[in-house]
Amino acid sequence: MTQSASLARVFDDLAPRYDHEHHEEVARALLALVGPGVADVVADVACGAGAVALQLARSRPAGAPPVLAVDVSPGMIEAGRARGASLTASGAIDWRLADAVPLPAAAHSLDVVLCASSLHFLGSGAVADWRRVLRPGGRVGFTLPLATHFRPSERFSVLLAADVPLPGSAAEADAWAAANGLTGAVSRVHVLGDRRVVVTSAVTPGGR
Ligand SMILES: C[S@@+](CC[C@H](N)C(=O)[O-])C[C@H]1O[C@@H](n2cnc3c(N)ncnc32)[C@H](O)[C@@H]1O
Repeated sequence: MTQSASLARVFDDLAPRYDHEHHEEVARALLALVGPGVADVVADVACGAGAVALQLARSRPAGAPPVLAVDVSPGMIEAGRARGASLTASGAIDWRLADAVPLPAAAHSLDVVLCASSLHFLGSGAVADWRRVLRPGGRVGFTLPLATHFRPSERFSVLLAADVPLPGSAAEADAWAAANGLTGAVSRVHVLGDRRVVVTSAVTPGGR
């Protein structure tokens, strides 16, 4: 079984008891730091049940570009669609069941890529792909668990990408972003109950 298929199976199993409350808080922190504009074309990468996509879509006026929401787990996408049915206008989110690497998006077609609580499953190749799909100067926002507060079950541990070390501080997240070709990284550590999450905003090179 491929890594993506294993991840889809694990998250399909998790979907019915997913911790929406925590992920809604993470999404709020991510959107507050990155602040996508109302006309920006945005992707929510490994969107799960759509915490980021739903909050963003609900905050935008009618006529804003649809949020591209991509996940490999049918169960999570289905949960997202069900939640979105009553929360957002039809067409506000473009749900896609697909591997997020590479994203189903053309080169330089996006203004903002957001990725909450997922980059440590995707690997650093995801960041290289974001640089492909973003226009020059496009923005990236991602969140990762703080290393000292992450206690994955064994089922999750084996699925983590070896080339995305969890940051032990905001400065480490900034340095990792720079080492992966992003500029102007700004990271913050958020305390969410007994969890700690590092939220990072950065830019792709080449903008004016
Ligand atoms: C911890 S959840 C986070 C979901 C969502 N971003 C949120 O904030 O609630 C991780 C998600 O990554 C997805 N995922 C993992 N690997 C993936 C891949 N290669 N392509 C697309 N989605 C993937 C899983 O299916 C799962 O929905």
